[in-house]
Amino acid sequence: MTRRICFVTGNRYKFEEVSEITRRFNIELELCSVPKLEVQGESLLEIVFKSAILAYFFTNRPVLVEDAGLFIKALNGFPGPYSSYVYKTIGLTGVLKLLEKAENREACFRSAAALAYDRGVITGEGEVCGYIVETPRGTRGFGFDPIFTPHGEAKTFAEMSLEEKNRVSHRAKSVSLVLSKYIEHAQTALSNF
Ligand code: IMP
Repeated sequence: MTRRICFVTGNRYKFEEVSEITRRFNIELELCSVPKLEVQGESLLEIVFKSAILAYFFTNRPVLVEDAGLFIKALNGFPGPYSSYVYKTIGLTGVLKLLEKAENREACFRSAAALAYDRGVITGEGEVCGYIVETPRGTRGFGFDPIFTPHGEAKTFAEMSLEEKNRVSHRAKSVSLVLSKYIEHAQTALSNF
């Protein structure tokens, strides 16, 4: 049985990445639009949890929300929750400039995902750590992809295919966790019927 869930995002790259993951679970992903969710929270997890509940009220169907950020060690975790703003304002060049004199270029991408449906909300988190390269490389992906290389890899995210990025990414981890719990819950519900 193919299940369908909808994903709230304005980012087509994210949609492609997440679609490739849902296909592995035999789930069809649809893009859904809801009024802009202005949710505040202390963590990515709190934000996606609240956003998924709101999105469920608008869509009345299983709905997935995901939020991510880049946490740079030498900058005490900055830009973290401000990643989107920092990308739009100072961009890759600005971040590289902030790291010009840094000896430690370690950074982690973190992602939180939440799926709201008629039985509640399922959440999951994912992380991938690596380092910020000195010069941007690659043309694929989005955001900070051209300046981030995961540990154990030679390529930046922007030099990887969708499948390669999904093998290690923060988003692939959080979303896969949520989907496996969802399938498990759905199967338990069926066997109790
Ligand atoms: P969002 O709120 O999940 O869209 O993520 C906030 C910002 O973090 C985005 O605008 C990107 O700049 C950055 N970001 C999040 N995930 C990724 C990723 O997988 N690759 C590169 N940049 C990312």
